[in-house]
Amino acid sequence: MSETFRQLLHGLPDFPDVLPEFDPAGAPADPAVLFRQWLGEALDAGVPQPNACSLATVDGLGGPSSRMLILKDLDNDGWHFATSRASRKGRELAANPQAALNFYWQQQGRQVRVAGGVVELSAAASASDWHARPAADGSDNPDWQLYALRPREIEFWQARHDRRHIRHRYGPESFS
Ligand SMILES: Cc1cc2nc3c(=O)[nH]c(=O)nc-3n(C[C@H](O)[C@H](O)[C@H](O)COP(=O)(O)O)c2cc1C
Repeated sequence: MSETFRQLLHGLPDFPDVLPEFDPAGAPADPAVLFRQWLGEALDAGVPQPNACSLATVDGLGGPSSRMLILKDLDNDGWHFATSRASRKGRELAANPQAALNFYWQQQGRQVRVAGGVVELSAAASASDWHARPAADGSDNPDWQLYALRPREIEFWQARHDRRHIRHRYGPESFS
C-alpha cells in the first residue's frame, strides 16, 4: 500500500513541457515591478488564483505554521494581506511580527518567496478590505486586520528542464 503510494507520488509530473525564459540580468531593479510582471504572465498562462500564497508565521517557541492567503495589494507599505487578529496567525503576528509568503505557479514552474517584518495598516483600510470581500454582507468585523509585509528579502525562482533552476534574489539593499 505505502509502496504504491510512493510510486504514485514519484510518478506525478512536475512542470509543463514548455517553460518561460527568465534572464536575471534583464530583471528590473525593483522586485515589485518584476512581481507585477510575473503575476500578469501567470494570469495569461491560466494560473488559477495567482494571488494566493502561503503565509508562514512562528509561535512563541519558534514553532512555524503556514496557511494559504490572498495577496490584497502591493505598494510602498509592503505586501498586503488580511485576516482576523483573533486567529492563530493574528496572535502569532502580534507577538512576533515576522512572516514569509510563498507563491507557486505550476504552469510556469515559478515560485516567489518574500520574507520580512509585518506592520498593521489602519483601521479604516482594514474595514474597507472587510467590506470589499466577496462574501461581505454589510456587517462590521472589528477583529479584521489588514497587514503589510515589508520585505527584507525576495527570491524569484524559475524552473528549467535541465535542472539548472534560476534563482534571483533581492536582499536588504533593494528595500531602502
Ligand atoms: C486559497 C485560499 C485563500 C485564503 N485566503 C485567506 C485570507 O485572505 N485571509 C484569511 O484569514 N484566511 C484565508 N484563507 C484561510 C486560511 O488558509 C486559514 O485556514 C485561516 O485563515 C485560519 O488560519 P490560522 O488558524 O492559521 O490563523 C484562505 C485559504 C485558502 C485555501
